[in-house]
Amino acid sequence: MPTDKNRSMKEFRLIQVADIHLGAGQEHHLDNWTKVVDWITREQPDLVVVNGDLIMSDPDNDKDHAFAREQIARLPVAFRCLPGNHDIGDNIVSGHMPKRIDDTRRARFIQHFGAERWAFGAAGWGFVGINAQLLGSKGQTAEAEQWDWLEQTLNGYRGSPVALFMHKPLFLDHPTEPDYEDPWTRQSCIDSVSRERLLELCKRFGVRVISTGHKHQTRTFSFEGIYYLWAPSTACVNSAPTMLHWGTREVGFFDLRFRPNGLFDYRLIGPDFLFRHENYIRKHKVGRN
Ligand SMILES: [Fe+2]
Ligand SMILES: [Fe+2]
Repeated sequence: MPTDKNRSMKEFRLIQVADIHLGAGQEHHLDNWTKVVDWITREQPDLVVVNGDLIMSDPDNDKDHAFAREQIARLPVAFRCLPGNHDIGDNIVSGHMPKRIDDTRRARFIQHFGAERWAFGAAGWGFVGINAQLLGSKGQTAEAEQWDWLEQTLNGYRGSPVALFMHKPLFLDHPTEPDYEDPWTRQSCIDSVSRERLLELCKRFGVRVISTGHKHQTRTFSFEGIYYLWAPSTACVNSAPTMLHWGTREVGFFDLRFRPNGLFDYRLIGPDFLFRHENYIRKHKVGRN
């Protein structure tokens, strides 16, 4: 049997969890998170990426940030986090939530969960995580810094396959789609100007995989040389079944293996053992008098 060390030289095994939505004093997503931690403890992957929406809902709820940090610290392996709209506020241009990204909220995230963007190499791949909430910020200094950092970082991995992680998807139907007028649909992905700029970088520097969260729906597809992964939430399914959905309404997370030959594969974990909390039932008390 190969040791874990030997295995990691051959492949890099990464678990992506997203939209874990943990809140202090609120038990209804903690049951699933405990099952996820138990599964990861058994499997001992190389790394866990927590891809945004770590806290329950309100970006300014300090208790929720502290609680989510405690819970994420239960992970038995190394982890890296990225911010989502519920952690630091929504995007300025394309967001919908009343609270939007600013430097104070970014600083709170960094204090609790570490860097808002990161990069490292493993198994011949480059792994890059960015703050999706900064895209379309209408001129915030931090956005310009992130664009510069991203270009330099991708240039550093030139010639290697790259997997990019960020909270929000790039588009819903097609990379050339305009920004949606309906605010709820528009907030589902990043704005069209940022998307065009990001895709130009991805194609120039060999990004092969873009893995996102946010939609609480599973969807995977390949388009123009990039493999897109929409990870489900570990916590809950959003929106009533009658609404338009682009992916599968289920809970779970992704188990990914990256190989030095540039290939990767993955599997969906969890729909069979996580509870499928339906957020719209809880919010609207469907089925209760
Ligand atoms: Fe979410
Ligand atoms: Fe989100």
